[in-house]
Amino acid sequence: MEKLKIIGVYGYEVLDSRGNPTVAAKVVLSDKSSGFAIAPSGASTGMFEAHEKRDGDKNRYFGKGVKGAVDSINGEIARTLTACDCVNQRKIDELLINLDGTENKSRLGANAILAVSLAVAKAVANSKKMPLYRYIGGINAGVLPRPMLNILNGGAHASNNIDIQEFMIIPYSAKTFSEGLRQCVEIYHTLGKILKQSGKATGVGDEGGFAPDLKSDEEAIALIVKAIEEAGYTTNDIKIALDVASSEWYENGEYLMPKRQQKMTADELISYYELLCEKYPIISIEDGVAEEDWNGWKKLTKRLGNRLQLVGDDLFVTNYKRLQKGINECCGNSILIKLNQIGTLTETLDVIALAKKHGYTAVISHRSGESEDTTIADLAVAVNAGQIKTGAPCRSDRVAKYNRLLIIENQLKK
Ligand code: PGA
Ligand code: ZN
Repeated sequence: MEKLKIIGVYGYEVLDSRGNPTVAAKVVLSDKSSGFAIAPSGASTGMFEAHEKRDGDKNRYFGKGVKGAVDSINGEIARTLTACDCVNQRKIDELLINLDGTENKSRLGANAILAVSLAVAKAVANSKKMPLYRYIGGINAGVLPRPMLNILNGGAHASNNIDIQEFMIIPYSAKTFSEGLRQCVEIYHTLGKILKQSGKATGVGDEGGFAPDLKSDEEAIALIVKAIEEAGYTTNDIKIALDVASSEWYENGEYLMPKRQQKMTADELISYYELLCEKYPIISIEDGVAEEDWNGWKKLTKRLGNRLQLVGDDLFVTNYKRLQKGINECCGNSILIKLNQIGTLTETLDVIALAKKHGYTAVISHRSGESEDTTIADLAVAVNAGQIKTGAPCRSDRVAKYNRLLIIENQLKK
């Protein structure tokens, strides 16, 4: 049989869920199968992430255009990948990494590289008539993730007065993905009703969670507990996770919550979490301290690591070397996985494997700027990650991932 080859690579400038430009790529194979992928985009990005290339031309999209990244797909990347054997994803990703030639993919842009890397994998999956999760994960793939639904938004994702970025609910006792999702959807709507009844705003933030002004960040947690109970569940069924995104607060070795203008040291911040965890059913905290504060991470892990999942997002940025350093220095016990933080599928899979090898959990994640692309749903099942965070059950960019998982659950039942 003739080898399956890439015959076309095309880049496009499209829009993300915030209405900002982002990169899409289409890859066509010699058997006419094709794959299409769209790169997501963060707002509270980690400083050690791979580079998201934007044009900076103030006359277009306030400088946020991605024509340069798209041009490199249609030019250099297309020339390099055309006629390549597409079944070897590692080889394709190595070609892309070497073509870029920089440590952080700043020449071609991680947005361009990721869109192509994923479009290649999707094209091959389509050619093999396999669902993407099966192609990526092989015969072992098949665990539906527990969803972490961000139902109340603050920080950089909302223009309210809440400093903590994400308040998530986790269906802890549910037996299946769909049952857990249903419970969380009911709680989300109940929270909306509670907010409305108390005269609070029910507009939503970037990830679809409500974004009201509240007396304190703690009030957000108390309201969520109220919603859990009013919806007919208990805090044994439903647990809470926070993404503090505290790198956004870090300045000269201290933490300044920008909206409430409250200053804290790392020790005080950790004591604050300790208190919250005693009062509320919190089981996971992401970026509790900042991306540069390795000392703070060591303390946080020492004090709370035996009873909480401590997720490194900005700390690890889906980067093998940074995760290895974290493992060596006992920082955190979990990694957030965002494909565009590193820029290729292969590197992402390598980081997940490293996490698993060392007993770290891996939470597959969306970005606050998303699209209809549902790759992360398949990735979660492919690597049996067990957890996914992809926002509230609101806004099609978030719901698309949950819907994809519902379809996968159905397929796997058969
Ligand atoms: P971002 O936020 O996509 O804006 O970086 C998501 C997160 O911090 O987990
Ligand atoms: Zn985060």
